[in-house]
Amino acid sequence: MKKIAVMTSGGDAPGMNAVVRAVVRSGLHYGLEVYGIYEGYKGLCEGNIKKLNRYDVTRIISRGGTVLRSARYPEFKDEEVRKNAVKQLNELGIDAVVVIGGDGTYRGAMALSAMGIKTIGIPGTIDNDISSTDYTIGFFTALQTVVDSVDKLRDTSMSHKRCNIVEVMGRNCGDLALYAGIAGGSEFLITPETGFQKEKLLAAIKKFNEIGRLHAIVVVTENMVNVQDLAKEIEEETGYETRATVLGHVQRGGDPVAFDRVLGTEMGEYAVELLVNGQSGRAVGLKGMEYVDYDIQFALNKKREIPNKRYGLIGRIK
Ligand code: F6P
Repeated sequence: MKKIAVMTSGGDAPGMNAVVRAVVRSGLHYGLEVYGIYEGYKGLCEGNIKKLNRYDVTRIISRGGTVLRSARYPEFKDEEVRKNAVKQLNELGIDAVVVIGGDGTYRGAMALSAMGIKTIGIPGTIDNDISSTDYTIGFFTALQTVVDSVDKLRDTSMSHKRCNIVEVMGRNCGDLALYAGIAGGSEFLITPETGFQKEKLLAAIKKFNEIGRLHAIVVVTENMVNVQDLAKEIEEETGYETRATVLGHVQRGGDPVAFDRVLGTEMGEYAVELLVNGQSGRAVGLKGMEYVDYDIQFALNKKREIPNKRYGLIGRIK
């Protein structure tokens, strides 16, 4: 193996640049040529590929977003489209690709691997929804952004004796809401894992109002409920004045926190070492304090464990 490539795909996540830097520098360390594929699978099919040297990745470790840019490209499910990708790689003599992204990105990597290209998947998404790793790159930076917002909302909530609902990202995974709930001291959570029991929530907030609690923060995972409608309903049913905030894409931006830089750098090097050792079709993960790798198909099928004790904590100490 002489030439490898790296790309970022799906929703960007802070810390992706740390992986790109580590793959480039580690690849060079092992005497490989390293290429950057721009704009994910779309760029791969279009041949948007450039050879990188160590200076191309100077000072990117501290920057949010991804210098390789990213794209969602559902067209890659089509085998004819994927043949273009293989053609582009073959023309440049690239043997292997390190892909950074979420489960859609992993599916693309699996398909490429079946077509003879060596692939390694690295989990990069703010959602923390990849079950083959304890933490995904970008999660802790997004979490810090959410916690900063919850802290700010508490200031204004307490000043007005209000309930504040905060909608966070996560797609089908409640981890951002759960960890933000714990770190931000919120009182209620609505996530795909908890489900939404409206009557229970209304009764609890009504009680808060009656006993004079100065604030109630409800953290909600996106797609669970219309938070503006819920705010109106809480006000009408409980008498507790309520506002709703949707944090949106601000959660994806910002310079990566140190943990995401470490995770990105170590996973990037791990991926290159897997390739140098002749491995392919593997997904890198962090389990406890150790880096591990699994067959990508296995990683995609692995069931997520729901942290029930952690969910219970919010209710126990609210
Ligand atoms: O997967 C990351 C994520 O930010 C999800 O939390 C969110 O549901 C989705 O991407 C938004 O995607 P887009 O930026 O394509 O609208």
